Amino acid sequence: MTTVLITGSTAGVGRYLAGRLAERGMTVLLHGRDQGKLDKLAAETGGRPYLADLSSLAEVRDLAARVRADLAAEEAGHPEGARLDVLINNAGVGSAGGRRITTDGHELHWAVNYLAPVLLTRLLLPALGPGSRIVNEGSLGQDVIDFDDLTMERRYTGTLAYCRSKLALAAWSFDLAAELDGIAVNCVHPATYMDTAMVREAGITPWSTVEEGGDAVLRLVTDETGTGLFFDGMTRSTAHRDAYDPSVRRRLREVTDHALAAVDRP
Ligand SMILES: NC(=O)c1ccc[n+]([C@@H]2O[C@H](COP(=O)([O-])OP(=O)(O)OC[C@H]3O[C@@H](n4cnc5c(N)ncnc54)[C@H](OP(=O)(O)O)[C@@H]3O)[C@@H](O)[C@H]2O)c1
Repeated sequence: MTTVLITGSTAGVGRYLAGRLAERGMTVLLHGRDQGKLDKLAAETGGRPYLADLSSLAEVRDLAARVRADLAAEEAGHPEGARLDVLINNAGVGSAGGRRITTDGHELHWAVNYLAPVLLTRLLLPALGPGSRIVNEGSLGQDVIDFDDLTMERRYTGTLAYCRSKLALAAWSFDLAAELDGIAVNCVHPATYMDTAMVREAGITPWSTVEEGGDAVLRLVTDETGTGLFFDGMTRSTAHRDAYDPSVRRRLREVTDHALAAVDRP
């Protein structure tokens, strides 16, 4: 039985993926931040609900602990072992809205779109194994990270906040892929301006459908596609040049390890 965890599964692409993966008979671990939406989705798909606000590092940590504990409890009854086959880091905050700082002191996009997937993945690594896959939902919208202004006090736009978090996500995906043996890690721009809440809230008229982007993500769950790669929909592509720059990657690792130092050990 294949077990998949999808963050942000109560809307948009995440919701689409939950339905498609459940239809294929997979065990779907549904993450959301709204109990009502989660319960409704769990009833529709048969998936297991996990509540957490990913803007809080403590809640990310707690989410990982609950997933690990549930998998461990299952393992007791299955000699072949229960494990997480696929982790889809899908949840994200779009570009609408003003600058917000989380309770941990991070800019909101940085926290939800970048630090949360890094922390969740680090804490779930013991539950992943050879053949497992990590799919990070990035974006073609990427921009340079000002490491001297990570909280964006000096310069803030929602678009810049979104794009720098997605550059960080891509750069980290490549580092992680190089680090892990036997676990595929890829980053995908699902599709451009899908008809989802984050696009509508930004006042943009959608260009593409959730199905289009969702199917591009689905492919990375089901097909052998290699590791350490960036996809634009179904097509192999490249991320922003900074995501391949060793000095940017080193600096990113430093600030990430510093931000997560107190919370990133299972
Ligand atoms: N839409 C596009 O055209 C596009 C293009 C490129 C990349 N992407 C990426 O694709 C992924 C899916 O986006 P989407 O288009 O499906 O957007 P969406 O419909 O707005 O869905 C975003 C999901 O993230 C969840 N989320 C947001 N903040 C959260 C928080 N603090 N804690 C927990 N969950 C949180 C939302 O929860 P609720 O259900 O409670 O709102 C929702 O389930 C994102 O990573 C996005 O950046 C989208």
